Order: sequence, then structure tokens, then C-alpha cells
Amino acid sequence: MTDSEQASGNLDWRTLVAAAQSSLAEAGVPDADISARLIGQRATGAEPGEWVEVLADAPHKRHLAHFDAMVERRCQGEPLQYVLGQWGFRHLDLFVDNRVLIPRPETETVAGLAVTEVESVRHAAGDVTPEDVAELPVIVADLGTGSGAIGLSVAYECSDVDVWLTDVSAAALTVARANLAGLGTKGSRVRLAEGSWFAALSPELQGRLSVVVSNPPYVGHDDDIDPQIRWEPADALFAEPAEQHLVHLVETATSWLHDAGSLILEMAPDQTSTIQQLAASLFDEATVHNDLAGRPRAVVARRPLQRN
Ligand SMILES: C[S@@+](CC[C@H](N)C(=O)[O-])C[C@H]1O[C@@H](n2cnc3c(N)ncnc32)[C@H](O)[C@@H]1O
Repeated sequence: MTDSEQASGNLDWRTLVAAAQSSLAEAGVPDADISARLIGQRATGAEPGEWVEVLADAPHKRHLAHFDAMVERRCQGEPLQYVLGQWGFRHLDLFVDNRVLIPRPETETVAGLAVTEVESVRHAAGDVTPEDVAELPVIVADLGTGSGAIGLSVAYECSDVDVWLTDVSAAALTVARANLAGLGTKGSRVRLAEGSWFAALSPELQGRLSVVVSNPPYVGHDDDIDPQIRWEPADALFAEPAEQHLVHLVETATSWLHDAGSLILEMAPDQTSTIQQLAASLFDEATVHNDLAGRPRAVVARRPLQRN
């Protein structure tokens, strides 16, 4: 580093991060220590294991400007994930900004259910479907993909699958496309499509999907919500009535899945009973699954009974 690139004064990262922590705490940011540390790591590009060594270093001017800008945004209340521009989801490090919902821990559980269903459908297909259907490629659709969190996790964790990422928001698909680029060869069988739910897909896929997974908007306008979510796109969160997309997806999925296919839907805990009952009337089996906090969070429906 040349002198002209170095910030003036006797600053080191330890001092800067401590000062940022105080400013963040004064601004009412919860977990100010975590925010200050992660913003410091992001500004310097240090891996967590390198951070202790970086603390005694003098900051580079460009890194300091980035650090100050991120601290200011966080002080204004912007979610840490948007400020950092990246967030971990299962095995992936996803790019996120305010065009997409911040991927949630409960959705990691839903993505895990999708991974499980891919393997279970692959092995069950021969028992349930005619031979020609059982030999079809495993095709997964992540409808309302946002950052691509669920579908890209499936592509990363499962071998030999075709994955469709769809969204009605072109802006969200731009983010998903950036995250797809980060997958390298594991993303070679992932495609994107814009449109509302199944209408985004080619009619040729009807009756051929192995797994459909979705985390649709399911928050009602009158629900008690964390004020922090005002930073996220409203179209990704709210529905009126709150279950409208969930009901549409259950009712429509039957004609898009093949006979051994599975539907996985994320929803609010108080919606699981209604959606499980609806799914049980249209599928051979419908079960409720909990998130890591032990709250009912997802319905998995297997083997559609009838075509719409
Ligand atoms: C709750 S977010 C989920 C995002 C991502 N799948 C995740 O789990 O983090 C819902 C997503 O559904 C999309 N969406 C809303 N209405 C839609 C529609 N009619 N058809 C397709 N996608 C829709 C939103 O743009 C948003 O990306």
C-alpha cells in the first residue's frame, strides 16, 4: 500500500470497529458488535479466520470509505444483509439487495425439504409412474425464487437435476441470475423464467415436474410484523387474502407435477392446518414440517391424485 492510499492518522481497524460499534449502539441497532465486525470484515475482504490479524492494520482509504458508508446505512436501520450485499444460505453465499427478500433461516429448512424430495421422488418414480414417466429427467421448479436461494441450493446439493427459477419480478430475476453465475458448473442445468407462478413455465412441462417448491408471499396486511421488513420488497411479502398464493399453488401444482411428484410450500405457522387439509384433498399424502424453532412452517404434498 502506498502512503497516498493509506488513511491519515493513527487509525487501525480495532479502533475503527470499536467506534462503529458505539455509533451503531447509539443509533439503536441491535447486536451492534456483530454488525460492526461483519461490516469491518466486508470492507477489508478479510475471512473470519484472518480478522484478528487485520485488526492492527491501518485502513486503506478506499476500504475506509466503504466501511463508513456501510456503518452509516446500518445506523439508518437498513438490514445488515443488504448493507453487506451478501448473506449465507445453507452452502451458498448469496448476493442480496433490496430487489429481493432476505433469505430466512426457516427457508433453509424448506430448501432442505426440497433436497430430500428430489432424492425421494427420484427413487419412488419407478414404483408409482409408468416406465416412460419414471425415466424422465428430474425437473425442479422454484416458483417465486427471489435471490434464487431455494432453487440454487437444490442445484448445488443434488446431482443430475434440471432446475427452473421463476419470479414475476424481473428485478428479482436479475439478482437470481447473478447468484446463478456464482454457482459455476453446478448451475449449468439451471434456467430462469419470468411470469406469474406456473404461467412462467413452458406448457411442455405440464405433468413433467418432479418437485415444485415455493416460498410465496403469505403475510397479511393486518399481521403483526417486524418493522425491519419495510426495507424489503412489499410484493415479496404481502398477500391479500394472506393464503391466496398458497391456495393457488396447491390447486395448480397437480397438473404440473408427474404422478410421483412433490409440492413443498413455506407458510406462516397458523396457515399450515388449512393448507395441509387442502393439499390432503388433492394429493395422496400431505404432511406439516416444523422449522428449526419448532414452529409448523411447511407442507409437503406427495403424488397428485387428479389432474385439474
Ligand atoms: C417470500 S419471497 C421468497 C423469495 C425466495 N424464494 C426466498 O425464499 O427467499 C416471494 C417471492 O415471490 C415472488 N412473487 C410474488 N408474486 C408472484 C407471482 N404471482 N408469481 C411468481 N412470483 C411471485 C416475489 O417477487 C418474491 O421474489
